[in-house]
Amino acid sequence: MKIVHSISELRAQLRGQLRTAFVPTMGNLHEGHLSLMRLAANHGDPVVASIFVNRLQFGPNEDFDKYPRTLDDDITKLEKEGVYVLFAPDEREMYPVPQDYRISPPQDLGDILEGEFRPGFFIGVTTVVMKLFQCVQPQVSVFGKKDYQQLMIIRRMCSQFSIPTEIIPAETIRESDGLAMSSRNRYLSTDERLEAVWLSKTLHQVADRIRQGQASTRITVDDVVEIESAAKQILNHRGWRTDYISVRRRSDLKAPQAQDLAEPNQLVVLAASRCGATRLIDNLEI
Ligand code: PAJ
Repeated sequence: MKIVHSISELRAQLRGQLRTAFVPTMGNLHEGHLSLMRLAANHGDPVVASIFVNRLQFGPNEDFDKYPRTLDDDITKLEKEGVYVLFAPDEREMYPVPQDYRISPPQDLGDILEGEFRPGFFIGVTTVVMKLFQCVQPQVSVFGKKDYQQLMIIRRMCSQFSIPTEIIPAETIRESDGLAMSSRNRYLSTDERLEAVWLSKTLHQVADRIRQGQASTRITVDDVVEIESAAKQILNHRGWRTDYISVRRRSDLKAPQAQDLAEPNQLVVLAASRCGATRLIDNLEI
């Protein structure tokens, strides 16, 4: 694997490539990330990964400084996956001057759910992804459904800016008890790690109740609101602090209307909640 730190070296490595498949990450790689590398290899060649902890997408009180940086381990893992180039720029390379040109997602998609609780987060994400796409110029790029809203925002950005990069969604990889893999799971204490399973458990309960409602009678918008608040209560009674647990339409992440509830495969339930000091997110398609 070629490890490059500058944009010019990266461009030199990729010159003439016609089917580059790109997987952007912030490192501390786990099986979820590696599954994206494998999916990328099915859709293109060469596979390019990036590791860059993007300050722009962290709020002032968030975990930018303590975000795990494990470059040597990450390199070993990527080499095993047959990744061709790792782009690992430092901040001076990515942001040599203050990045004051930014991409701003539409408010109805960028300021809800994660965007409501992490103001500016998606501006940071879309800005860095746009810049990484300019550096790599990939034909395809893989994003995980673990970050469902991020995936949707990047897809729409590519479509609206006519970026010639196809966005491929990847399924969420989970631990054996159901906890979605995440670099932030390593912040959990042993007890919190056992408790953390309740996030995916609660999402399953929501999905089951919605499906039962769909199967028996006609489930109403009010029923959905009741199911959401019951789920939030379950978590909060266990000591979690929940930002949101919300059933939305898969198509645009808006709250479902009566007609959306009547059809199968239209919904997704998304949640963000703090287990101890660690904020976890997860989602499940219904
Ligand atoms: P990061 O959190 O490192 O995630 C990189 C990619 O891995 C994202 O597409 C994410 O959805 C995916 N991913 C994370 N956990 C996963 C899991 N358990 N199963 C499947 N895929 C998973 O997301 C980011 O970095 C950044 O916002 C980035 C896009 C790199 C921009 O800075």
